[in-house]
Amino acid sequence: MTHRSLRLGVNIDHVATVRNARGGGQPDPIRAARMAVEAGADGITAHLREDRRHIRDADMETLARVLTVPLNFEMAATDEMVALAIRLKPHAACLVPEKREERTTEGGLDIVGGHEHLAPRIIALSAAGIRVSLFVEPDVAVMDAAHRLGAPVVELHTGTYCEAVAAGNTKRVSVELARIARAATHGASLGLEIHAGHGLALDSVGPVAALAEIAELNIGHALIGEAIFTGLDQAVRDMRAAMDAARGASAA
Ligand code: PXP
Repeated sequence: MTHRSLRLGVNIDHVATVRNARGGGQPDPIRAARMAVEAGADGITAHLREDRRHIRDADMETLARVLTVPLNFEMAATDEMVALAIRLKPHAACLVPEKREERTTEGGLDIVGGHEHLAPRIIALSAAGIRVSLFVEPDVAVMDAAHRLGAPVVELHTGTYCEAVAAGNTKRVSVELARIARAATHGASLGLEIHAGHGLALDSVGPVAALAEIAELNIGHALIGEAIFTGLDQAVRDMRAAMDAARGASAA
């Protein structure tokens, strides 16, 4: 399926990172979420990590209560997180691999190897009315595996592509972009809803946003970083405009 419009999910984790650096309540991730929505975010994403290094349980509770747009609860596929999600009932849960020592999520879930014990968790979350997505590598075989697992949504990991953009490695950029495009086309042909995210910034978002099968992008670090200079409202508006321009140009 191709999507005319492309949703923007704003990840507010790093507002909480800054808050936690000092203790106390400032800057407030809930205020950031509200501001992002005002500026055009279609949804809010927050990752409650096992070590609670940024978003905390109370943040998730408040987001689930006050948001007027869909909340995407990013989480490891653990019993603790599944139980919490079932209690809070966010619109969506995005299952990600999580290692304590990593700085951010490095690589997608190993669903081809089947080492993540995902099936019962997908079933439990879905039964609670939560839309499950799997954060995976942009790979055709991985799309087949996600489909077999019964997840309705995959989020394609764009980190390697974004690293190539940052390094100015044009050959690598086109290889990685082609991988993302192939996975998106194949996944969509299987009936999966296709999302993408990780590392996306103003200089890398366009070619991904132009892929018609992609329904949603989840973006955090670059927006919060840019917000230091332009303000969060402007950062979200600029990202939204870049996404819309790329999608509009590809549809024309
Ligand atoms: N999507 C997923 C599944 C992620 O784990 C992350 C990082 O938390 C993002 C999107 C957003 O990545 P970034 O903060 O680099 O924009």
